Amino acid sequence: MSAQQQNLHAEDESSFQDSPKQRSRFTFQNAWFEQIIPTWVDQTSSLLPPAPPVPLRILELGSFEGASTTWILDNLANHPSTSMTAIDTFAGGMEHDNAEVESLQSRFLTNVGKCSNVGKLRVMKNRTEDGLIDLRKEGAKFDFIYIDASHVAIDVLHDAVLSWQMLELGGRLVFDDWTWKGYNEDVLNPRMAIMAFLQCAAAEAEVVETESQIWITRVKSRIVATKNPDPALMYWDNSQRFEVDPSSIKNNVQEASDATESSKGRD
Ligand SMILES: C[S@@+](CC[C@H](N)C(=O)[O-])C[C@H]1O[C@@H](n2cnc3c(N)ncnc32)[C@H](O)[C@@H]1O
Repeated sequence: MSAQQQNLHAEDESSFQDSPKQRSRFTFQNAWFEQIIPTWVDQTSSLLPPAPPVPLRILELGSFEGASTTWILDNLANHPSTSMTAIDTFAGGMEHDNAEVESLQSRFLTNVGKCSNVGKLRVMKNRTEDGLIDLRKEGAKFDFIYIDASHVAIDVLHDAVLSWQMLELGGRLVFDDWTWKGYNEDVLNPRMAIMAFLQCAAAEAEVVETESQIWITRVKSRIVATKNPDPALMYWDNSQRFEVDPSSIKNNVQEASDATESSKGRD
């Protein structure tokens, strides 16, 4: 275990109340996840009763108070061989105020402690960029991944790429915040990262868009990579040079920084 990574033992702090699987037994300050439960039920219906539980390796990036964690534990983690890993700093993000972050970790542990499947949960108190690398080094593989940690585009892209490398063929990866616009500057919002990622992963991705999320199934690549027959063109194909106009990228960045400047006076 690295010095930065502290594995929390949810069992130690739980009350192990094995009460019926009702959402009312949890204490949440935010109702984000409760609103999208119908979508989750719909999207995961093949894994829910009456289907028998299947063994899953589940990864969650961003747990907050445990709303999504507890739903997943109660509904997707009922096979004895299922395991779940959750990574969070428990420090909150730019979208949270101090009151929401205060005692966040203990609220999370109290909530997950009410799930009978809590023993299958490993909690990594860490930044996702570090935790994901640790998991890769362990050789971890996952069947279901939920990405809902940092809402800064470049972080979301990093989380997506590293997670994708650990997602099994046939596995699901879910992005939250597809429509979130917490930043004035579009280049900073998660949508930018999700679109960039989808362009790169298109050959292996079957995509379903729900209201605020993107659900991806990893499939066998539909593209066979072939080598350019003209070695000279590998490096010097001038016809491609302006497919992405470098000045348009510069303009986007300029627009973003202009927007930042103009928003400064508003605080
Ligand atoms: C929107 S909340 C997650 C909500 C949760 N999935 C749910 O549905 O209830 C985002 C969480 O990500 C965590 N977070 C933000 N940036 C992070 C990072 N770089 N690494 C790890 N966790 C991070 C925050 O502490 C916060 O708890």
